Order: sequence, then structure tokens, then C-alpha cells
Amino acid sequence: MSQSYQLQQFDQDVKKVLAENTDFRSIIDGIKPYLGQLLTNKQLLPQEYRQPKGDKYAQYLLYKPEDESYSVIAFVWGPGQISPVHDHLIWGLVGIYEGAIVEKRYRQEDRGEGQEPRYELREVGEVTAKAGDISFVYPPNYDIHSVANPFEQTAIAIHVYGADVGERVRHIHDINTGEQRDVITKHDNATPIYKSFDGAEFDNA
Ligand SMILES: [Fe+2]
Repeated sequence: MSQSYQLQQFDQDVKKVLAENTDFRSIIDGIKPYLGQLLTNKQLLPQEYRQPKGDKYAQYLLYKPEDESYSVIAFVWGPGQISPVHDHLIWGLVGIYEGAIVEKRYRQEDRGEGQEPRYELREVGEVTAKAGDISFVYPPNYDIHSVANPFEQTAIAIHVYGADVGERVRHIHDINTGEQRDVITKHDNATPIYKSFDGAEFDNA
């Protein structure tokens, strides 16, 4: 019997944090240690979901509760794969499960009404995150970033968001013009890897 920290326990811990906190930063701080434990569970992600896709990063929904108050999503980055600059419009945590990624952070500056372009994106930092590291996003000022895997090894990240971001409109930003366009980034799996914590599904964890 495995003693590793299971998604079922994580679900209970996240729900407790969400019941006790409302502001994004407190929610992130509350969930962070639990995500840290979840990242140590080597059985969390079934083998068939660990392979990168040829064209772009893969995005797999692991689990979301019925009320969609949060979601757990795995991102798999093949060597050389990169995301556009994007926002999330909700709190989120990014935990590295395997390999490493480079994350660039941006802040949107309002140049004022009548200015052309109205908004400008400024790069405010770059970090290399490796297995066990956890970063976070939340609007309005810590919400825009890009992610890349410039390394030779596949990178896998486990993300936790305050909604199912596979169904919500958010934005891709153009760093040259400051313009943004609507996008919905759908999951690559039709049904969550963990549909419930009963029977066979939970045995996977
Ligand atoms: Fe992101």
C-alpha cells in the first residue's frame, strides 16, 4: 500500500483552503505546501499522459470537483516547445513534476486613454523552474507569462487553477504591439484522468 500523498487527500486539503480563504494570494499560499506534496507522488500521472505531442505542448485535465471551484491540469512540454505570452484571469499554481521549464513574467502597463498602443507589456523577470519548484499566477499584476522548455528532456508541470481554464476565455498577448486576443485552451483529453475517487480511478493514484 502506497503511503504517497494522493489526489484524494489533495482534494480535501484544497477544499479546506478554499473554504477558509477568499483572496487569491492567501489561497495560493494555502495550497502551495499541498501541491509540493502532490509533486512527490510518482504515480500521479499515468504513463500514457507523459509523452509530449509533436506539434505543441500537451494539456491534460487530471481532475476537477463537480462545482469546478478548482482544477488540476498536467502540461507536458517536449524539448523546444514554447507557449505564447498569455494570462489566466484567475489564481493558479505551477508545480514542476519532471524536467525543467523557463518562465518569463510580464506586466501590462496602461499608457493612458488615447495612447497608441494603449497597453504595453514589460518583461519583469525570468526564472528556470525545476522538479519540485512551484510558481504562481494571479490577476491583475502577476498574471501574464510565457513558458518554454529549451532543454533536451521532456518537462511535466502540474497546474492548479481556481476554475477549469480549459473552458474559459482568456488572452494571448502580443509583446510587440501590446494587443491581446481571446483564446480558450481546451484540454487534450475528453474526460478527466480522475473522474472520481471511487474504485479503479483512484487505484491509479
Ligand atoms: Fe500559464
